[in-house]
Amino acid sequence: MTADADIVEGLRAAGLAGEGDVVLVPLTGGVSCDVWKVETPSGPIVVKRPLPQLRVAAEWLAPIERGQSEVRWLRRARGVDPQIAPEVLAELPGYGFAMRFLPDSPVWKDELMAGRIDPGFAAAVGRGIAAVHAATANSVADRAAFPNDDMFRALRVDPFLLHVARNDAELGPALDALAGDLVSRKIALVHGDVSPKNILVGAGGPVFLDAECAVYGDPAFDLAFCTTHLLLKAVWLGDARLNEAAAALVDAYRTGVAWEDADGLMLRAGRLTAALLLARVEGKSPAPYLTDPDHKRVVRDQARASIVAPPPSLAGLVANWKRTFA
Ligand SMILES: Nc1ncnc2c1ncn2[C@@H]1O[C@H](COP(=O)(O)OP(=O)(O)OP(=O)(O)O)[C@@H](O)[C@H]1O
Ligand SMILES: [Mg+2]
Repeated sequence: MTADADIVEGLRAAGLAGEGDVVLVPLTGGVSCDVWKVETPSGPIVVKRPLPQLRVAAEWLAPIERGQSEVRWLRRARGVDPQIAPEVLAELPGYGFAMRFLPDSPVWKDELMAGRIDPGFAAAVGRGIAAVHAATANSVADRAAFPNDDMFRALRVDPFLLHVARNDAELGPALDALAGDLVSRKIALVHGDVSPKNILVGAGGPVFLDAECAVYGDPAFDLAFCTTHLLLKAVWLGDARLNEAAAALVDAYRTGVAWEDADGLMLRAGRLTAALLLARVEGKSPAPYLTDPDHKRVVRDQARASIVAPPPSLAGLVANWKRTFA
């Protein structure tokens, strides 16, 4: 039986496909998963199944159990707010799953690239992430349900922080310390990949996808990861509204921080953002669109300066972020 036949059989067993032909239409050229859209008698669904090995130049091995982490995150997030994640309809062989297809919900990255930049939506993203963190903070049950530290190390800490640390004598110690601090904190449920390409602009606000890296850890990581993407895009697209969107995201997130001292979290998020910005120009997973040497220099110089002299708060880093040195 081919893998696809396996999926079709799983869909039938879950009552999600009739007896006729089931057509799996690929949805993305993603590096970590097969994702298909499937028309079923009860409407369109999305089927996602993790690949054993990521489709990137520098090979990353990642256990396929990450599919299960994603399902758990989606279900948990819907428990916090049913608007912010798609409904999981069934789990399938090979850690695949089926979820409801969200119609008329463009990917936020595509909207930003088309110049539709709405700081109000960015604020809603900040509120959504903070809501999941707030609902899961200091929860013994959530901590037990997401014991994915090895996966988070392999897919996030190593490629984004330690890889750069190993190749940078000057900043290595600071990045090592940051990585150590990040993995030591067990505060709330972290999504792990909050990027505009994993957020849909849904009718009721942001919908978060792609939670394969979910872990019980430091919530500052999600905020830093998403802010990093907006600051990189500000440089790439040269659009001040992306700086505004980043500021709105950070501000709205901060309002939702009820589980710990917000100043401490913003300090950690500022440090992490500086490191992630550097990782996107020097790391194992460079931002594919930052190819212009001037863009890279603008990101690299500001990131390095913020690692050497960390900003007191993420808001400060965002407020001072330059799109160009010209
Ligand atoms: N429930 C859904 N409704 C509508 N579209 C969806 C849904 N789930 C996924 N998609 C589409 O499929 C794309 C890929 O989904 P997802 O990010 O989960 O997979 P991925 O393989 O991990 O992607 P990548 O590696 O590119 O981030 C999304 O960007 C979106 O366009
Ligand atoms: Mg994705």
